[in-house]
Amino acid sequence: MEPHVFPFPRAERLELDPEYARLQAEEPVSQVVFPYGEPAWLVTRYEDVRTVLSDGRFSRALSLERDVPRVTVENFSGGIVAMDPPEHTRVRSVCQYAFTARRVARLRERATVIATELAKEAIAGGEPFDGVEDFAVPFTLRMICELLGVPYGDRGRFRQWAEAGLATTSISEEERLSAAGNLWEYISGLLAERRADPQGDLISAMVASQSETGAVTDDELVMVVMTVLAAGYETTSTELPNFLYVLLETPSRYRELVSRPSVIPSAVEELMRYVPMEANGASPRFTLEEVTLSGTRIPAGAPVVAATVIANRDPAVFADPHRLDLTRAPNPHLGFGLGAHYCLGAPLARLELQVALEVLTAALPALRLTDEPGSVEWKAGMMVRGPSKLMLTVQ
Ligand code: HEM
Repeated sequence: MEPHVFPFPRAERLELDPEYARLQAEEPVSQVVFPYGEPAWLVTRYEDVRTVLSDGRFSRALSLERDVPRVTVENFSGGIVAMDPPEHTRVRSVCQYAFTARRVARLRERATVIATELAKEAIAGGEPFDGVEDFAVPFTLRMICELLGVPYGDRGRFRQWAEAGLATTSISEEERLSAAGNLWEYISGLLAERRADPQGDLISAMVASQSETGAVTDDELVMVVMTVLAAGYETTSTELPNFLYVLLETPSRYRELVSRPSVIPSAVEELMRYVPMEANGASPRFTLEEVTLSGTRIPAGAPVVAATVIANRDPAVFADPHRLDLTRAPNPHLGFGLGAHYCLGAPLARLELQVALEVLTAALPALRLTDEPGSVEWKAGMMVRGPSKLMLTVQ
Protein backbone atom coordinates (compact mmCIF):
# COMPACT_ATOMS: atom_id res chain seq x y z
CA MET A 1 0.00 0.00 0.00
CA GLU A 2 1.17 3.57 -0.79
CA PRO A 3 2.46 5.43 2.29
CA HIS A 4 0.19 8.24 3.54
CA VAL A 5 1.42 11.82 3.48
CA PHE A 6 1.98 13.06 7.04
CA PRO A 7 1.18 15.29 8.95
CA PHE A 8 -2.47 15.18 7.90
CA PRO A 9 -3.72 18.54 6.65
CA ARG A 10 -5.83 19.65 9.59
CA ALA A 11 -3.04 20.09 12.08
CA GLU A 12 -3.34 23.69 13.20
CA ARG A 13 -6.71 23.84 14.91
CA LEU A 14 -7.96 21.45 17.55
CA GLU A 15 -10.05 19.27 15.25
CA LEU A 16 -8.42 15.94 14.52
CA ASP A 17 -8.13 15.06 10.86
CA PRO A 18 -10.68 12.24 10.18
CA GLU A 19 -7.87 10.23 8.62
CA TYR A 20 -6.59 9.39 12.13
CA ALA A 21 -9.83 7.64 13.13
CA ARG A 22 -10.05 5.89 9.77
CA LEU A 23 -6.55 4.50 10.16
CA GLN A 24 -7.21 3.46 13.75
CA ALA A 25 -10.24 1.43 12.62
CA GLU A 26 -8.93 0.07 9.31
CA GLU A 27 -5.15 0.28 9.15
CA PRO A 28 -3.87 0.64 12.73
CA VAL A 29 -0.20 0.34 11.77
CA SER A 30 0.34 2.24 8.55
CA GLN A 31 3.25 3.72 6.62
CA VAL A 32 3.65 7.48 6.37
CA VAL A 33 6.06 9.89 4.74
CA PHE A 34 7.00 13.16 6.42
CA PRO A 35 8.27 16.21 4.46
CA TYR A 36 11.84 15.16 5.40
CA GLY A 37 13.56 11.99 6.60
CA GLU A 38 12.91 8.28 6.33
CA PRO A 39 9.42 6.84 5.80
CA ALA A 40 7.89 5.90 9.16
CA TRP A 41 5.24 3.63 10.68
CA LEU A 42 2.30 5.40 12.26
CA VAL A 43 0.66 3.60 15.17
CA THR A 44 -2.84 4.75 16.17
CA ARG A 45 -4.38 2.21 18.59
CA TYR A 46 -4.12 2.80 22.35
CA GLU A 47 -2.49 -0.55 23.22
CA ASP A 48 0.06 -0.26 20.40
CA VAL A 49 0.88 3.35 21.33
CA ARG A 50 1.47 2.23 24.93
CA THR A 51 3.85 -0.45 23.66
CA VAL A 52 5.81 1.98 21.48
CA LEU A 53 6.20 4.45 24.35
CA SER A 54 7.05 2.03 27.13
CA ASP A 55 8.66 -1.10 25.66
CA GLY A 56 12.47 -1.42 25.73
CA ARG A 57 12.46 -2.65 22.10
CA PHE A 58 11.94 0.96 21.00
CA SER A 59 14.79 3.48 21.14
CA ARG A 60 14.88 7.26 21.15
CA ALA A 61 18.69 7.46 21.10
CA LEU A 62 18.85 6.08 17.55
CA SER A 63 17.26 9.33 16.39
CA LEU A 64 20.70 10.95 16.81
CA GLU A 65 22.16 8.74 14.08
CA ARG A 66 19.25 8.45 11.68
CA ASP A 67 17.46 10.55 9.10
CA VAL A 68 14.55 11.18 11.47
CA PRO A 69 11.09 11.59 9.91
CA ARG A 70 10.30 15.25 10.56
CA VAL A 71 8.73 18.49 9.34
CA THR A 72 11.90 20.63 9.45
CA VAL A 73 14.87 20.65 7.07
CA GLU A 74 17.37 19.96 9.85
CA ASN A 75 17.16 17.10 12.32
CA PHE A 76 17.37 18.78 15.71
CA SER A 77 16.88 15.70 17.93
CA GLY A 78 18.87 15.86 21.13
CA GLY A 79 18.77 16.30 24.87
CA ILE A 80 17.08 14.14 27.48
CA VAL A 81 14.20 13.16 25.20
CA ALA A 82 16.68 11.55 22.79
CA MET A 83 18.39 9.31 25.38
CA ASP A 84 17.80 5.65 26.24
CA PRO A 85 18.24 3.93 29.61
CA PRO A 86 20.63 3.62 31.42
CA GLU A 87 22.06 7.07 30.36
CA HIS A 88 18.57 8.52 30.36
CA THR A 89 17.83 7.20 33.87
CA ARG A 90 21.12 8.63 35.16
CA VAL A 91 20.48 12.10 33.70
CA ARG A 92 16.83 12.20 34.71
CA SER A 93 17.79 11.35 38.29
CA VAL A 94 19.19 14.88 38.86
CA CYS A 95 15.59 16.08 38.78
CA GLN A 96 14.44 13.74 41.55
CA TYR A 97 14.06 16.70 43.94
CA ALA A 98 11.82 18.62 41.56
CA PHE A 99 8.44 17.38 42.62
CA THR A 100 8.65 16.14 46.18
CA ALA A 101 5.28 16.36 47.99
CA ARG A 102 6.54 19.37 50.00
CA ARG A 103 7.67 21.28 46.95
CA VAL A 104 4.42 20.63 45.10
CA ALA A 105 2.31 21.73 48.11
CA ARG A 106 4.31 24.97 48.30
CA LEU A 107 3.89 25.45 44.57
CA ARG A 108 0.10 25.09 44.84
CA GLU A 109 -0.06 27.97 47.32
CA ARG A 110 2.12 30.15 45.11
CA ALA A 111 0.14 29.19 42.01
CA THR A 112 -3.11 30.29 43.66
CA VAL A 113 -1.62 33.65 44.69
CA ILE A 114 -0.13 34.31 41.23
CA ALA A 115 -3.26 33.24 39.30
CA THR A 116 -5.48 35.37 41.55
CA GLU A 117 -3.30 38.45 41.00
CA LEU A 118 -3.26 37.91 37.24
CA ALA A 119 -7.03 37.40 37.05
CA LYS A 120 -7.58 40.69 38.93
CA GLU A 121 -5.12 42.58 36.74
CA ALA A 122 -6.64 41.12 33.59
CA ILE A 123 -10.08 42.63 34.22
CA ALA A 124 -8.94 45.78 36.06
CA GLY A 125 -9.13 47.98 32.96
CA GLY A 126 -12.58 46.73 32.00
CA GLU A 127 -11.29 45.90 28.50
CA PRO A 128 -11.17 42.46 26.94
CA PHE A 129 -7.90 40.73 27.81
CA ASP A 130 -5.77 38.15 26.06
CA GLY A 131 -5.95 34.78 27.80
CA VAL A 132 -2.56 33.90 26.30
CA GLU A 133 -0.31 36.93 26.91
CA ASP A 134 -2.16 38.39 29.90
CA PHE A 135 -2.80 35.18 31.80
CA ALA A 136 -1.41 31.84 30.60
CA VAL A 137 2.12 33.00 29.69
CA PRO A 138 2.88 35.12 32.78
CA PHE A 139 1.29 32.49 35.05
CA THR A 140 3.25 29.49 33.76
CA LEU A 141 6.45 31.48 33.29
CA ARG A 142 6.39 32.81 36.85
CA MET A 143 5.75 29.31 38.18
CA ILE A 144 8.64 27.68 36.36
CA CYS A 145 10.94 30.59 37.26
CA GLU A 146 10.08 30.19 40.94
CA LEU A 147 10.54 26.43 40.84
CA LEU A 148 13.90 26.54 39.10
CA GLY A 149 15.15 29.77 40.62
CA VAL A 150 15.45 31.58 37.28
CA PRO A 151 14.92 35.36 37.73
CA TYR A 152 11.51 36.29 36.25
CA GLY A 153 13.01 39.70 35.44
CA ASP A 154 15.22 37.97 32.83
CA ARG A 155 12.22 36.72 30.83
CA GLY A 156 12.73 39.35 28.14
CA ARG A 157 16.04 37.61 27.40
CA PHE A 158 15.27 33.91 27.69
CA ARG A 159 11.64 33.66 26.56
CA GLN A 160 12.22 33.86 22.85
CA TRP A 161 15.22 31.51 23.08
CA ALA A 162 13.09 28.96 24.95
CA GLU A 163 10.21 29.29 22.50
CA ALA A 164 12.53 28.61 19.59
CA GLY A 165 12.93 25.12 21.07
CA LEU A 166 9.34 24.25 20.15
CA ALA A 167 9.30 25.96 16.76
CA THR A 168 9.24 23.90 13.58
CA THR A 169 8.88 25.95 10.41
CA SER A 170 8.20 29.35 12.01
CA ILE A 171 11.93 30.20 12.35
CA SER A 172 15.08 29.60 10.29
CA GLU A 173 17.80 27.10 11.18
CA GLU A 174 20.23 29.97 12.00
CA GLU A 175 17.69 31.50 14.37
CA ARG A 176 17.17 28.14 16.05
CA LEU A 177 20.90 27.56 16.56
CA SER A 178 21.55 31.06 17.80
CA ALA A 179 18.60 30.83 20.25
CA ALA A 180 19.88 27.48 21.58
CA GLY A 181 23.41 28.93 21.98
CA ASN A 182 22.13 31.98 23.87
CA LEU A 183 19.98 29.88 26.17
CA TRP A 184 22.90 27.53 26.82
CA GLU A 185 25.12 30.45 27.88
CA TYR A 186 22.41 31.98 30.02
CA ILE A 187 21.75 28.71 31.91
CA SER A 188 25.48 27.98 32.31
CA GLY A 189 25.81 31.40 33.93
CA LEU A 190 22.96 30.69 36.36
CA LEU A 191 24.45 27.31 37.31
CA ALA A 192 27.81 28.96 38.04
CA GLU A 193 26.06 31.55 40.25
CA ARG A 194 24.25 28.86 42.25
CA ARG A 195 27.44 26.85 42.68
CA ALA A 196 29.02 29.89 44.28
CA ASP A 197 25.94 30.96 46.23
CA PRO A 198 23.28 28.21 46.69
CA GLN A 199 19.62 29.16 47.28
CA GLY A 200 16.52 27.09 48.15
CA ASP A 201 15.58 26.51 44.50
CA LEU A 202 15.69 23.55 42.15
CA ILE A 203 18.82 24.67 40.29
CA SER A 204 20.71 24.81 43.59
CA ALA A 205 19.38 21.33 44.52
CA MET A 206 20.52 19.96 41.16
CA VAL A 207 23.96 21.54 41.50
CA ALA A 208 24.30 20.07 45.02
CA SER A 209 23.24 16.64 43.80
CA GLN A 210 25.73 16.82 40.95
CA SER A 211 28.62 17.59 43.27
CA GLU A 212 27.60 14.88 45.77
CA THR A 213 27.03 12.07 43.28
CA GLY A 214 29.03 13.12 40.21
CA ALA A 215 26.24 11.42 38.22
CA VAL A 216 25.98 14.03 35.48
CA THR A 217 28.43 16.23 33.60
CA ASP A 218 28.20 20.03 33.53
CA ASP A 219 26.89 19.92 29.95
CA GLU A 220 24.19 17.38 30.85
CA LEU A 221 23.07 19.57 33.73
CA VAL A 222 22.77 22.63 31.46
CA MET A 223 20.78 20.54 28.97
CA VAL A 224 18.33 19.31 31.63
CA VAL A 225 17.74 22.79 33.04
CA MET A 226 17.24 24.18 29.52
CA THR A 227 14.67 21.48 28.76
CA VAL A 228 12.80 21.96 32.03
CA LEU A 229 12.70 25.74 31.52
CA ALA A 230 11.48 25.55 27.93
CA ALA A 231 9.18 22.51 28.28
CA GLY A 232 8.05 23.89 31.63
CA TYR A 233 6.16 26.86 30.37
CA GLU A 234 5.70 26.76 26.62
CA THR A 235 3.63 23.57 26.82
CA THR A 236 1.42 24.62 29.74
CA SER A 237 1.05 28.17 28.46
CA THR A 238 -0.28 26.69 25.21
CA GLU A 239 -2.42 24.00 26.82
CA LEU A 240 -4.22 26.38 29.19
CA PRO A 241 -5.58 28.58 26.33
CA ASN A 242 -6.59 25.37 24.53
CA PHE A 243 -8.56 24.35 27.61
CA LEU A 244 -10.19 27.78 27.88
CA TYR A 245 -11.07 27.72 24.19
CA VAL A 246 -12.76 24.30 24.49
CA LEU A 247 -14.61 25.30 27.67
CA LEU A 248 -15.78 28.67 26.33
CA GLU A 249 -16.67 27.73 22.76
CA THR A 250 -19.51 25.73 24.39
CA PRO A 251 -20.28 27.98 27.40
CA SER A 252 -22.24 25.30 29.29
CA ARG A 253 -18.90 23.52 29.82
CA TYR A 254 -17.37 26.52 31.60
CA ARG A 255 -20.59 27.05 33.57
CA GLU A 256 -20.45 23.43 34.76
CA LEU A 257 -17.05 24.13 36.34
CA VAL A 258 -18.31 27.40 37.85
CA SER A 259 -21.17 25.60 39.58
CA ARG A 260 -19.23 22.43 40.44
CA PRO A 261 -15.56 23.27 41.15
CA SER A 262 -15.04 19.75 42.52
CA VAL A 263 -15.18 18.55 38.89
CA ILE A 264 -12.02 20.55 37.97
CA PRO A 265 -9.44 17.77 38.60
CA SER A 266 -11.32 15.29 36.38
CA ALA A 267 -12.03 18.06 33.83
CA VAL A 268 -8.26 18.68 33.55
CA GLU A 269 -7.65 14.98 32.83
CA GLU A 270 -10.46 14.92 30.26
CA LEU A 271 -9.16 18.04 28.53
CA MET A 272 -5.67 16.51 28.46
CA ARG A 273 -7.21 13.52 26.69
CA TYR A 274 -9.44 15.47 24.33
CA VAL A 275 -7.16 18.31 23.20
CA PRO A 276 -4.73 17.13 20.50
CA MET A 277 -1.97 19.57 21.40
CA GLU A 278 0.76 17.86 19.44
CA ALA A 279 0.82 19.22 15.91
CA ASN A 280 3.14 16.91 13.96
CA GLY A 281 3.38 13.51 15.59
CA ALA A 282 5.45 12.75 18.69
CA SER A 283 9.20 12.15 18.61
CA PRO A 284 9.64 8.93 16.63
CA ARG A 285 11.07 5.82 18.29
CA PHE A 286 13.24 3.28 16.40
CA THR A 287 12.73 -0.48 16.68
CA LEU A 288 15.77 -2.31 18.09
CA GLU A 289 14.42 -5.62 16.77
CA GLU A 290 11.47 -6.77 14.68
CA VAL A 291 8.19 -6.02 16.48
CA THR A 292 4.63 -7.08 15.60
CA LEU A 293 1.85 -4.62 16.43
CA SER A 294 -1.83 -5.29 15.63
CA GLY A 295 -0.71 -8.10 13.33
CA THR A 296 1.71 -5.94 11.29
CA ARG A 297 5.41 -6.83 11.32
CA ILE A 298 7.66 -3.79 11.73
CA PRO A 299 11.29 -4.58 10.81
CA ALA A 300 14.25 -3.84 13.08
CA GLY A 301 15.66 -0.31 12.79
CA ALA A 302 12.40 1.29 11.59
CA PRO A 303 11.08 4.66 12.83
CA VAL A 304 7.71 4.44 14.53
CA VAL A 305 5.47 7.39 15.42
CA ALA A 306 3.07 6.85 18.32
CA ALA A 307 -0.03 8.92 17.58
CA THR A 308 -1.17 9.67 21.14
CA VAL A 309 -3.70 12.23 19.86
CA ILE A 310 -5.84 9.45 18.40
CA ALA A 311 -4.87 6.75 20.94
CA ASN A 312 -6.57 9.08 23.42
CA ARG A 313 -9.78 8.59 21.43
CA ASP A 314 -9.61 4.83 20.98
CA PRO A 315 -13.17 3.45 21.45
CA ALA A 316 -11.65 0.24 22.85
CA VAL A 317 -10.59 2.25 25.92
CA PHE A 318 -12.73 5.41 26.05
CA ALA A 319 -16.52 5.18 25.69
CA ASP A 320 -17.92 7.73 23.21
CA PRO A 321 -14.34 8.93 22.66
CA HIS A 322 -15.02 12.07 20.59
CA ARG A 323 -17.29 13.49 23.30
CA LEU A 324 -15.88 15.75 26.02
CA ASP A 325 -17.07 14.33 29.35
CA LEU A 326 -15.72 16.50 32.16
CA THR A 327 -16.45 13.80 34.75
CA ARG A 328 -14.97 10.89 32.79
CA ALA A 329 -13.42 8.27 35.10
CA PRO A 330 -11.22 6.34 34.85
CA ASN A 331 -9.25 8.34 32.31
CA PRO A 332 -5.94 6.65 31.45
CA HIS A 333 -5.05 9.20 28.73
CA LEU A 334 -1.55 9.43 27.29
CA GLY A 335 -1.38 13.24 27.19
CA PHE A 336 1.80 13.25 29.28
CA GLY A 337 3.29 10.29 27.42
CA LEU A 338 4.28 7.01 29.07
CA GLY A 339 7.32 4.98 30.03
CA ALA A 340 10.84 6.27 30.58
CA HIS A 341 10.15 9.69 29.01
CA TYR A 342 6.82 10.22 30.81
CA CYS A 343 6.53 13.99 31.29
CA LEU A 344 8.84 14.99 34.09
CA GLY A 345 6.74 18.07 34.76
CA ALA A 346 3.33 16.37 34.87
CA PRO A 347 2.79 17.13 38.61
CA LEU A 348 3.48 20.82 37.97
CA ALA A 349 1.43 20.96 34.76
CA ARG A 350 -1.58 19.32 36.47
CA LEU A 351 -1.30 21.64 39.44
CA GLU A 352 -1.11 24.75 37.24
CA LEU A 353 -4.00 23.70 35.03
CA GLN A 354 -6.20 22.88 38.04
CA VAL A 355 -5.33 26.07 39.91
CA ALA A 356 -5.86 28.25 36.82
CA LEU A 357 -9.34 26.81 36.27
CA GLU A 358 -10.19 27.02 39.99
CA VAL A 359 -9.16 30.67 40.18
CA LEU A 360 -10.73 31.74 36.87
CA THR A 361 -14.09 30.03 37.42
CA ALA A 362 -14.31 31.44 40.99
CA ALA A 363 -13.11 34.99 40.17
CA LEU A 364 -14.56 35.36 36.66
CA PRO A 365 -17.73 33.22 36.50
CA ALA A 366 -19.08 35.26 33.56
CA LEU A 367 -15.95 34.77 31.43
CA ARG A 368 -16.61 34.37 27.69
CA LEU A 369 -14.87 34.59 24.31
CA THR A 370 -15.03 38.09 22.84
CA ASP A 371 -15.20 36.81 19.28
CA GLU A 372 -16.82 33.90 17.52
CA PRO A 373 -14.78 30.69 18.16
CA GLY A 374 -14.15 30.50 14.40
CA SER A 375 -12.20 33.78 14.37
CA VAL A 376 -9.63 32.78 17.00
CA GLU A 377 -6.04 33.02 15.69
CA TRP A 378 -3.91 29.88 15.96
CA LYS A 379 -0.16 29.33 16.19
CA ALA A 380 1.50 28.06 13.05
CA GLY A 381 4.82 26.34 12.40
CA MET A 382 5.14 25.03 15.96
CA MET A 383 5.25 21.52 17.45
CA VAL A 384 2.20 22.37 19.51
CA ARG A 385 -1.25 23.61 18.57
CA GLY A 386 -2.86 26.44 20.46
CA PRO A 387 -4.39 29.90 20.07
CA SER A 388 -1.81 32.63 19.51
CA LYS A 389 -4.32 35.05 21.03
CA LEU A 390 -7.55 34.35 22.94
CA MET A 391 -9.54 37.50 23.61
CA LEU A 392 -11.75 37.16 26.69
CA THR A 393 -14.19 39.40 28.53
CA VAL A 394 -16.48 39.36 31.55
CA GLN A 395 -18.77 42.16 30.23
C1 HEM B 1 0.25 20.55 29.81
C2 HEM B 1 1.54 20.65 29.79
C3 HEM B 1 2.48 19.57 29.35
C4 HEM B 1 2.29 18.58 28.42
C5 HEM B 1 1.06 18.32 27.56
C6 HEM B 1 3.52 17.81 28.39
C7 HEM B 1 3.70 16.67 27.61
C8 HEM B 1 4.85 15.90 27.61
C9 HEM B 1 4.99 14.66 26.87
C10 HEM B 1 3.92 14.01 25.99
C11 HEM B 1 6.25 14.19 27.10
C12 HEM B 1 6.87 12.90 26.56
C13 HEM B 1 7.61 13.13 25.25
C14 HEM B 1 8.08 11.84 24.61
O1 HEM B 1 7.94 10.75 25.18
O2 HEM B 1 8.60 11.93 23.49
C15 HEM B 1 6.92 15.15 27.97
C16 HEM B 1 8.23 15.06 28.41
C17 HEM B 1 8.83 16.02 29.20
N1 HEM B 1 8.23 17.09 29.84
FE1 HEM B 1 6.30 17.65 29.65
N2 HEM B 1 4.42 18.34 29.27
C18 HEM B 1 3.82 19.41 29.89
C19 HEM B 1 4.37 20.21 30.87
C20 HEM B 1 5.67 20.10 31.34
C21 HEM B 1 6.22 20.89 32.43
C22 HEM B 1 5.46 21.91 33.27
C23 HEM B 1 7.55 20.53 32.54
C24 HEM B 1 8.62 21.01 33.50
C25 HEM B 1 8.46 21.38 34.70
C26 HEM B 1 7.80 19.49 31.55
C27 HEM B 1 9.00 18.88 31.35
C28 HEM B 1 9.19 17.78 30.55
C29 HEM B 1 10.49 17.12 30.39
C30 HEM B 1 11.81 17.55 31.01
C31 HEM B 1 10.27 16.02 29.53
C32 HEM B 1 11.29 15.01 29.03
C33 HEM B 1 11.31 13.84 29.96
C34 HEM B 1 12.27 12.75 29.52
O3 HEM B 1 12.65 12.69 28.35
O4 HEM B 1 12.62 11.96 30.39
N3 HEM B 1 6.63 19.26 30.86
N4 HEM B 1 6.02 16.17 28.28
